[in-house]
Amino acid sequence: MAKLWGSRFKKKTNSLVEKFSSSIGYDYKLAKYDVLASIAQAQMLGKARIISVRDSARIVQALRVMLKQIEQGSFVFDKKAEDVHTNIQNALKKKIGQVAKKLHTARSRNDLVATDLRMYAKEEIRNQKSKIKYLQLVLVEFAKKNIKVIIPGFTHLQHAQAISLAHQLLAYVEMLERDQQRLSDAYKRCDVLPLGSAALAGTTLPINRNYLAKLLGFSKVSANSIDAVSDRDFVLEILSALSILSMHLSRMAEDFILWASPEFGLLELDESFCTGSSLMPQKRNPDVLELIRANAGTVYGNLLALLTTFKGLPLSYNRDMQLDKPAFFNSLESLSAGLEVFSELVKCCGINSNQALMLSSDELLCATDLVDYLVRKGVAFQEAHKIVGKIVAFTQERKLFLSEIPPEKWKQFSGRFEKDVYGLLNAQASVEAKRSFGGTCLVNIKRELSNWKKRLKK
Ligand code: ARG
Repeated sequence: MAKLWGSRFKKKTNSLVEKFSSSIGYDYKLAKYDVLASIAQAQMLGKARIISVRDSARIVQALRVMLKQIEQGSFVFDKKAEDVHTNIQNALKKKIGQVAKKLHTARSRNDLVATDLRMYAKEEIRNQKSKIKYLQLVLVEFAKKNIKVIIPGFTHLQHAQAISLAHQLLAYVEMLERDQQRLSDAYKRCDVLPLGSAALAGTTLPINRNYLAKLLGFSKVSANSIDAVSDRDFVLEILSALSILSMHLSRMAEDFILWASPEFGLLELDESFCTGSSLMPQKRNPDVLELIRANAGTVYGNLLALLTTFKGLPLSYNRDMQLDKPAFFNSLESLSAGLEVFSELVKCCGINSNQALMLSSDELLCATDLVDYLVRKGVAFQEAHKIVGKIVAFTQERKLFLSEIPPEKWKQFSGRFEKDVYGLLNAQASVEAKRSFGGTCLVNIKRELSNWKKRLKK
């Protein structure tokens, strides 16, 4: 098999080495970008008169045909050619003969692979961002549909305070928005063109890198050729952002799994998104959510794998760097699939509103409101906390609801309690009273829903 580097070698490469070092099994995914970068390279070489305008046009025309084949999936990859660059180069030679040898001028696979990968990454960031946005939209719709539903909010997975379900759904939307911002930020550093750095030192030929950047849609050109071929920070940054995203999805999945369990009984997963048991005929399992929860492990693992791979690598390019791709691709693919299936799952989720009512009728969810009540009447917060703590202990010893405490008894706990205290003991009132900015009352939620609708429309 023709190599891009074979002439100084007298011996044939050992077949084990060929197999071991081959990357075509995964870097074929870069083919589209390799061809686009090659088209730009040929155009630049022609414009700079490094090759003739005629040769440039011939190369570009053949590459455009290959680009179509790649996009249609009809391009045949030769698994014996070591990588995607060799594949494209060999296919070009097959098409147009000797002229093809002029394409790989003033470039190396080192700056080429970095360019391909950045182009791929930029498109993938846009992809992931649009999938995140879709999930945000779905969550906003779900919140809007269930705007009246009140559920217990949890800390330490213990009943804490009554909240609106929509408020928690909008919490997920906030989390996802930070993921969007992290990806946008990573995009800026991804958007720097390495092509023209050649192997590591630049080139003696009169290339025009700004023209390449313009053709390829990069907003900046790398300023140091050594850094340009050794840098994979953009991969690590994206994987870091994706790790946090996958952690967010995992936490959401966990909430949904809990809510869908019979013990909570709040969430109804559509049957088409559940799976069964081969042994227990009654089972209806949330496997999709469990896989989303588990995806985070894969994504963290990939980040850690690459941080470790890059640790201690001398500048500039080293072959170790080839292994950035399987880890990177794998994370992007698992998140893309996870986001897609999560969105569809949420779209057909139902809420058991009777159960929500039942669970949020726990009067102890209003204990903190009693503390605030006393504070409003001038009692110091920690004093009020102590008083209400005693009231809670009293009801639990006597197996009473708070609303069953008679008026005289309230007075014994604190002279500040009046009859209006009974009005505090329901989840609806409790939620409505949380009017601080960012709190769970309906006005806040309505405002946030309309803000998100506007923001996500863009
Ligand atoms: N397959 C290599 C990679 O993915 C391409 C660059 C190879 N360059 C070299 N000098 N061996 O990193």
